[in-house]
Amino acid sequence: MNNLILEVNDVAISFDGVRAVNGANLNVAVDSVTSVIGPNGAGKTTLFNLISGAIKPDSGTILFEGMEIQNLLPHKIADRGIIRTFQGAKVIKRLSVLDNLILGGQDNPGESLLNFFNPKARKAYEAQARDRAMELLQQIGIERFAHEYAGILSGGQRKLLDLARALMANPTMLLLDEPFAGVNPTLVEKLLEVLQDLRTKHHLTFLLIEHDLETVMNISDRVIVMAEGRVIADGAPNSIYENQAVIDAYLGTRKATS
Ligand SMILES: Nc1ncnc2c1ncn2[C@@H]1O[C@H](COP(=O)(O)OP(=O)(O)OP(=O)(O)O)[C@@H](O)[C@H]1O
Ligand SMILES: [Mg+2]
Repeated sequence: MNNLILEVNDVAISFDGVRAVNGANLNVAVDSVTSVIGPNGAGKTTLFNLISGAIKPDSGTILFEGMEIQNLLPHKIADRGIIRTFQGAKVIKRLSVLDNLILGGQDNPGESLLNFFNPKARKAYEAQARDRAMELLQQIGIERFAHEYAGILSGGQRKLLDLARALMANPTMLLLDEPFAGVNPTLVEKLLEVLQDLRTKHHLTFLLIEHDLETVMNISDRVIVMAEGRVIADGAPNSIYENQAVIDAYLGTRKATS
């Protein structure tokens, strides 16, 4: 028995000859916060797409809690407890904030044909989901918008909503793609608080992609650096700062692209 929740072994995927992920190796410890950093186009989001099952690797294996998942459909991977958020925080603008969350819950009996004829089960589920959704909205501090259209939320508030939506599914592991990008400093503080709280109270494991190095250094137990589809460094946050390969590949390219 090891304490690894996720193991990515020699995973590769190409798009039209571009090796987006090119033999990536990494693992994630149970209950940890692990950050993936790297220049634009390094393959970070593609790695998340592979882990969540949105795309299948050309080669390599991905193990979650010791079981291979790389060939499973996305909803099967979600059922096992891996839930992701998206780089652009996807919310349904013309639905209320609350309904956005209720839709994020899993095992909605309303979606099953059998239960379509069992309104009692559906009602019970909806009431439960509603309570859970309100609780999460309170936890992330946007309960005042519960009955407003999600479209009125700021970019940062949408990120909070997207996080809450992911939590509705009761994940074991959360994949967060740039959760802090474009979020104002006050909301970043709030998000960080929520993450720490979730971690200590609910034993959640986080794998997150982030560009802001200060935030990364603050919250991560471990940092994985990707460049050109590979993992070029992996270690405690401090060790990353001193790594010359990281400085060259990451900071060098960042300068060139921004
Ligand atoms: N569906 C796709 N079709 C074609 N090329 C793709 C696809 N997805 C990713 N790529 C390419 O794969 C490479 C890695 O992209 P990816 O989005 O994973 O990078 P990233 O590290 O998340 O970058 P960023 O920091 O800008 O979000 C890029 O060259 C990108 O253009
Ligand atoms: Mg990306």
